[in-house]
Amino acid sequence: EEFDFGMVGLGVMGRNLLLNMADHGFSVAGLDLDPEKAESLEKEASEKHTIKGTTQAEEFVKLIKKPRAIMLLVPAGKPVDSAIDSLLPFLEEGDIVVDGGNSFFPDTDRRVKELEQKGGIHFFGMGISGGEKGARFGPSMMPGGNESAYERLRPIFEAIAAKVNNEPCVTYLGRGSAGNYVKMVHNGIEYAIMQLIAETYDFLKRGYGISTDKIQKLFEDWNNSELSSFLVEITADILKQADEKTGKGLLLDYISDTAKAKGTGKWTSQDAMNIQAPVPSIDSAVVMRNISKYKEQRVAASKSLTWEAPAENVEEAQLFAEIKDAFYFCMISIYAQGLAQLTIASEEYDYGLNLEEVAKIWRGGCIIRAAALEDFRQAYQKDAALPNILLDETIGKSMVEKQTAARAIVKKVIDKGIPAAVFTSALAYFDAFRSETLPTNLIQAQRDFFGAHRYERTDVEGIFHTEWNS
Ligand code: 6PG
Repeated sequence: EEFDFGMVGLGVMGRNLLLNMADHGFSVAGLDLDPEKAESLEKEASEKHTIKGTTQAEEFVKLIKKPRAIMLLVPAGKPVDSAIDSLLPFLEEGDIVVDGGNSFFPDTDRRVKELEQKGGIHFFGMGISGGEKGARFGPSMMPGGNESAYERLRPIFEAIAAKVNNEPCVTYLGRGSAGNYVKMVHNGIEYAIMQLIAETYDFLKRGYGISTDKIQKLFEDWNNSELSSFLVEITADILKQADEKTGKGLLLDYISDTAKAKGTGKWTSQDAMNIQAPVPSIDSAVVMRNISKYKEQRVAASKSLTWEAPAENVEEAQLFAEIKDAFYFCMISIYAQGLAQLTIASEEYDYGLNLEEVAKIWRGGCIIRAAALEDFRQAYQKDAALPNILLDETIGKSMVEKQTAARAIVKKVIDKGIPAAVFTSALAYFDAFRSETLPTNLIQAQRDFFGAHRYERTDVEGIFHTEWNS
């Protein structure tokens, strides 16, 4: 009983997090059923590190200081339950188990209850973002669970997290599955911004024949502006990576366009539907990955469903200025949708989220880190109850300014026949959100017409049904 922290699952993420903790002076133990992984952990450690790897659950648990702090980094689903079962006989009241994977949030709620009942063990669901490098040198971490138990974890997590202005990109987020939910929506936003970037590339390249080289420079420039963000930055890197296999051209041009997904983006959309949180750009991003699967049909349709885009003279400098503002506009619209989903979910699931804290810990370490997150943090700082960042005065003003560019680009994508579901839905969301009246009164009338579903009136209180003339 001397180690500060234990890790179950010594894959790349697990071992990198442990090494990160060891770098910060914490003594750490790792458990993996694979003896090779358990042994190699110690080999990777330096002289300064106190690290021990084992394949035995009992030995592992007993190595750790009470109340024990143990993290699981195993694939989501059954492996998490098996890992818990293997530890359970040796755990004691007050011990903490943190699931660091991308678990489906209802599973976390179930496990929180089960472990509480089985001897007062605190279970945490914690999203971790930033990939392998992030885990090793500073991730963004999104823990949810029992607030007082978090104190045992806090010093370790704050030490290893990414820092922005010396502030760690980790904080206690809320009750139950709050941490997994926040990470799930993080991934939904991640999907939408990745798709927005892909649409930008497609629009410039296929729509206007701009060279990849120029597009690469554009992303590089953007990364030194208010668009500065991890995803823009890596896109600039990707667009200049040569293909080593053939020695000819860019690697990107050899990569299959059938997109894969592990499911977190889909969950974001699915749960948004359940709680009636409108996130059309996240939905569209999931849909575009799905459409990409149907390669053969797309190839056939590309020959029959043709479209000749009208010729057009554009000035490149103006096009670049316009797409930059449109990108900014749509990016903010995406964050607005995701953050609003969190506000709605917090109410629905009683998470007790503080959106300022969410924006704060997303500023560094995670995949969706961006300069704009600081603006969102400030918006929530001014008004903790802000239901939507579009209602913040400063953010709203820049959206009003940049909407002309967004409208111009959306017209162009349509004229060019470029599929840009995220661009168009981000603008449609903005327009719906700022509409005092929507034509949904007509929908209510139709529902009452064919199904006697009744409607409310704008002038008097009550619920009404009409025998409609037909
Ligand atoms: C992160 C990422 C990560 C996620 C990948 C893959 O924050 O580090 O979100 O958790 O697993 O991005 O996601 P898809 O396979 O669904 O694209």
